[in-house]
Amino acid sequence: MVREWDPRTASSAEIGSVLDTLNAVLAADLPQDPPWREDSLREYLSEVMPGERRISWVAHADPPPGGGPAPIIGHVHVLLLGDIGVLEVLVHPAVRRSGLGRELVLTAARRVYQEGFRSIGVEVVGDTPAIGFYSSLGFTREYVETRSVLDLGTVDWTALTEMAAAVDPGYHLEFYPGGPSDDLIEAYARAKAEVRDVEDGELRPSSYDPQRLRDSLDTLHRRGMKPYIVLALHERTGTVAGLTEVVVPVQHPTRADQYDTIVVRDHQGYGIDRAIKARMLLELRSAEPELTEVQTWNAQANEAMLKVNAELGYQPDRDWCEYSVDVAELVHRLDTHR
Ligand SMILES: CC(C)(COP(=O)(O)OP(=O)(O)OC[C@H]1O[C@@H](n2cnc3c(N)ncnc32)[C@H](O)[C@@H]1OP(=O)(O)O)[C@@H](O)C(=O)NCCC(=O)NCCS
Repeated sequence: MVREWDPRTASSAEIGSVLDTLNAVLAADLPQDPPWREDSLREYLSEVMPGERRISWVAHADPPPGGGPAPIIGHVHVLLLGDIGVLEVLVHPAVRRSGLGRELVLTAARRVYQEGFRSIGVEVVGDTPAIGFYSSLGFTREYVETRSVLDLGTVDWTALTEMAAAVDPGYHLEFYPGGPSDDLIEAYARAKAEVRDVEDGELRPSSYDPQRLRDSLDTLHRRGMKPYIVLALHERTGTVAGLTEVVVPVQHPTRADQYDTIVVRDHQGYGIDRAIKARMLLELRSAEPELTEVQTWNAQANEAMLKVNAELGYQPDRDWCEYSVDVAELVHRLDTHR
């Protein structure tokens, strides 16, 4: 049975059941990834940026013979933003290949269609069943990135300390746990607007204007995801010459996510990229004692960024793809398949 589900009002048992399914999926498809914890999972599933909406559904198994609540074995949500619906689907490995994934996608796609959105996008992890699944539903690949993972246990901290110091003397670096201070938001947003050398997946929109940036930092906090920023400030003008962002989610605090790294064009060639990333890792070591890994996503064409990441010790892990489909075609295809 598939039903619309609101994580805001769901029972703790249901939130726990979604977590169990998510962790079973991770164990099957991404066994090296850390399991998620229940901390702020409800907020992670409910909170959105102003102007965005997330609609969710769950699928239950039959109730257990001895009574008690029926476990949740499938989950889908769609985030409506701009003119696109971004989909995420989870089916418990014990019940795969029985048509549940297709049913969940059809349920969400019908709503996206009714709401007047034209396309659906989804992040698909390479070398998992999701590739065959979305291809079979007519989704096509728009974009591919590589996810790389840095094991902090392998880091040469002495070399890293040297890298962090090896920035041109015309700049200094500042560390901001929780996000940039409010007086820097405008300069920070300008740097993000000027260069879109984005490391992150396209489906996670970056924030280019000051209010959107404030909203995005606020949303991260509400979802239990703590942002850390290192800025390179140009001494003479006070402008933000470079920035790097890492987020530590309370749901998996041993593995952090690298978000954007940007060096503004006029300030490229002064060792800023390497230095801000090195400084970030040094700071995280004391700020987040549980942290053991950092993951990052790069376009395969972004050779400069890949080179710096390789120097830091990042190891390529998997393809991370964006697929999309026209909603009307998807609904039609799935309806005729039933
Ligand atoms: C992708 C996923 C949703 C598929 O769910 P499912 O219930 O097994 O899918 P369905 O039974 O509806 O499959 C529909 C069609 O997709 C295709 N398909 C599904 N799994 C496939 C696989 N492993 N290989 C090839 N094709 C596959 C088939 O064409 C299938 O039809 P068929 O069984 O009649 O041949 C499920 O594997 C899943 O939850 N994966 C994790 C997704 C995710 O987001 N993970 C994030 C962290 S890894």
